[in-house]
Amino acid sequence: MSFSFSEENNLKIASLMKRYPQKKALILPLLWMAQKQDGYISEDAMQVISEHSHMPYMHVYSVATFYTMFRLQKPTKRVIEVCRTLSCELRGSQEIKKHLLENYSDSYEIVEVECMGACSGAPMCTLDGKYLENLTPRLLDEVLNAN
Ligand code: FES
Repeated sequence: MSFSFSEENNLKIASLMKRYPQKKALILPLLWMAQKQDGYISEDAMQVISEHSHMPYMHVYSVATFYTMFRLQKPTKRVIEVCRTLSCELRGSQEIKKHLLENYSDSYEIVEVECMGACSGAPMCTLDGKYLENLTPRLLDEVLNAN
C-alpha cells in the first residue's frame, strides 16, 4: 500500500478517534485529510480510511464518489475552484470564471464548485485549497502572478 497519512495527520486522526465513538464517522474527515495531503484521494488512501473507520472499502468508495468535492484523480495542473453559488454569482463569479478561462486555463485546472461557506468574501475562489476572497480580475492577476 503506497498511501500513509503524514505524522501530523496521524496525530489528528488519534484525536478524532476519541471524538467519534462510531468509527464510521471518521470517513468524511479522513477523506478531506487525504485529499488535502495528496491533492486527491487514491484507492490506497481509501483502503487506509477503510481500516481506520472499520468500514468496507466499498462504503468509503461510495462516500468519496457521492460528493463532487472529492477528487479521485491526481490533478495534472494546479487547481482553481470558482464558487458559482448565489452570493458569489451576484458579486461577479461569472466574470472571474471568464477571466480565468481566457487567461489561465493552460496553467491551471479551473473547476466550478458550489458554496464553500465564505459568502461574506464573495466572489471567491480557492487556489490549491487556499481561499481567495473579494476577488476582481485584477486582484486575481496579482495573486496568480505572485504564485
Ligand atoms: S456563495 Fe460563494 S462561498 Fe458561498
